[in-house]
Amino acid sequence: MNKQVEKRIEQLREQIRDHDYKYFVLNEQAISDQEYDKLVKELEKLENENPDLITSDSPTQRVGKDITKQFKPVQHNVPMLSLANTYNEGELYDFDRRVRETLPREEKIQYVVEFKIDGASVSLRYVNGILKTAATRGDGTVGEEVTNNVKTIKSVPLQIKRNSSAPYPPDDFEVRGEIFMRIADFHKLNKDREEKGEKLFANPRNFAAGTLKMQDPQIVASRKLNIFVYNLISSEGELNFHFENLNLLRKLGFNVNPEFKLCESIDEVLKYCNELESKRNSLEYEVDGAVIKVNSLRQQKILGSIAKSPRWAVAFKFKAKQAITKLNKITWQVGRIGTITPVAELEPVFLAGSTISRATLHNYDEILRKDIRENDKVVIEKGGDVIPKVVSVVLSERPKNSKVPRPPDKCPVCGSSVFKPENEVAFYCENTECNAQVRGRIGHFAARGAMDIEGLGEALIDLFVNLGFLKTYADIYDLKDHRDELINIERLGEKSVGNLLAAVEASKKQPFAKVLFALGIRYVGAGAAKKLADHFLSIDKLIQASEEEITDVHEIGPSISKSVRKFFSDKHNIDIIKRLKKQRLVFEAERKVVKENFFTNKTFVITGTLENFSREEAGDRITVLGGKVTSSVSSKTDFLVAGENAGSKLEKAKNLGVKILSEKQFLNELNKAG
Ligand code: IVH
Repeated sequence: MNKQVEKRIEQLREQIRDHDYKYFVLNEQAISDQEYDKLVKELEKLENENPDLITSDSPTQRVGKDITKQFKPVQHNVPMLSLANTYNEGELYDFDRRVRETLPREEKIQYVVEFKIDGASVSLRYVNGILKTAATRGDGTVGEEVTNNVKTIKSVPLQIKRNSSAPYPPDDFEVRGEIFMRIADFHKLNKDREEKGEKLFANPRNFAAGTLKMQDPQIVASRKLNIFVYNLISSEGELNFHFENLNLLRKLGFNVNPEFKLCESIDEVLKYCNELESKRNSLEYEVDGAVIKVNSLRQQKILGSIAKSPRWAVAFKFKAKQAITKLNKITWQVGRIGTITPVAELEPVFLAGSTISRATLHNYDEILRKDIRENDKVVIEKGGDVIPKVVSVVLSERPKNSKVPRPPDKCPVCGSSVFKPENEVAFYCENTECNAQVRGRIGHFAARGAMDIEGLGEALIDLFVNLGFLKTYADIYDLKDHRDELINIERLGEKSVGNLLAAVEASKKQPFAKVLFALGIRYVGAGAAKKLADHFLSIDKLIQASEEEITDVHEIGPSISKSVRKFFSDKHNIDIIKRLKKQRLVFEAERKVVKENFFTNKTFVITGTLENFSREEAGDRITVLGGKVTSSVSSKTDFLVAGENAGSKLEKAKNLGVKILSEKQFLNELNKAG
């Protein structure tokens, strides 16, 4: 009896897998939905009656009940690199020239051209034909495990067809691909969210990436994600050509985008890239370019990679999508540092995955330069997730009597006077207590990437500022003293106030670099904040540092250091920091316990071009190991790391007797230090 049940279960699984493959990969429907559901129901019933026969690769196991509390880190055996971009014919020919120069002269080179899918990349690892782990790209070296969520995607095989005609697969292999969402599904899901009053996603890519990181696989399953796979990696077996790999992946049951082509020359590559670009508007999914890869894996190996990109592949970016619409009005927006920026209020128009009703006009000079006027027909453009911009005006359709817009003569929010520094294009509101600036500073402080206070969004900040609860961001930490008053505010209530106050408390654990970024010092973005935090290690040291000492930090320029000095010489800012310190925010970098090594407490300068990493990456490696990196050579410098074409810094180091490390020696020391 049991044998028979086992056989039937296997039979049902085979059939369901086959229908999934046909439906989700080949876009063919062989049986009706009812018939399909019947097969699934029968399988579920048999498995319920015989739980010991359930296997992890059964189609019933796509949607687990387990909630993922924390996404575990996964180390990528082969790093997940990103691609360098080319934007025109010339840059594409440069890529081909570099490839030919690196390979032996007589070698024949073929390229494979594919669509560059605009989604979220994942790596799928199969062991003995079964999907074991799925991981996000993360920082390229370490990603996050999202297996439960990826399993819900029906075009991802849980098990490789063993009886396939292919001489593959090896016991252990990895497949890389892009998770995406069809444009139509994206619209439908976003519309549902709109009806429920939930926050909308900007584009299908963000939606796909956000979904992949959800905790509940049941919700993920309802989101209709899909995958196109584009790379096969294995240290076992005979892999020789990328083109063959793509065909093989198809045979193994993966969804490979059908538009790939083997090209014999760079001219053919360019022609095909243009062909792909002309197809882009008729696709059901978003693409943002083409990818060109050297076909031979042996040649790929010779070419290797530099910094974070391979030398054997490159992206050919398509032109940003454009649309024409009417510019109804020019309004002025006030930012957190008082900058008054013109915004184009547009007749809503659909472009590249979303409806656009506003676009930036950058500054007043730009308006004059492009001769943009209210009521003009304008060409707008959007690339990736950047804010849309107005590119040009359709002059032939300009209405009569239109007028050149005037610059702002007072702040549109508080009515104060405006000023324009001589060497800048922007106008500023002179009143630092202007409501827009106050809200902007608080919004920046609470935002993701800074203090990350969930729930404290624009609407709530507006409300709290208007009610007088928030005047500076330090007031956020006193909100708890107003708990009862907050609960009484209409539409808030006990639960959401509780959640908000918990999020405020939780933000106190944000590391020093994020706190420093959150302060909103002009020009100090997240990257610069991290560098300053790693270098000075505490706010007190940074407050005491001179402009020269700050400029001397690797990759920190004079405008940042000037601005940092200005910020800390304002007593008002120092008072706010005192209040935040009292609330126990983190104002010291966590000293990672690294074993004492070659780099500990030594000061380095990096110069010239390095083969294996960018200067920034090299700097990061040194700081992680407890060393310091500065930008100018002095008697305090312990080592100069000198790459190709090092110039004056190398000379100076030699004159001062500073020890010099070649890239090879530097790499050696890095390896020794761990
Ligand atoms: S190849 C080292 N092929 O684009 C090779 N990538 O910046 C890198 N992408 O993160 C991957 N479509 O997620 C490759 N056909 C395609 C792709 C593709 C989209 C994504 C990928 C990667 C990014 C490159």
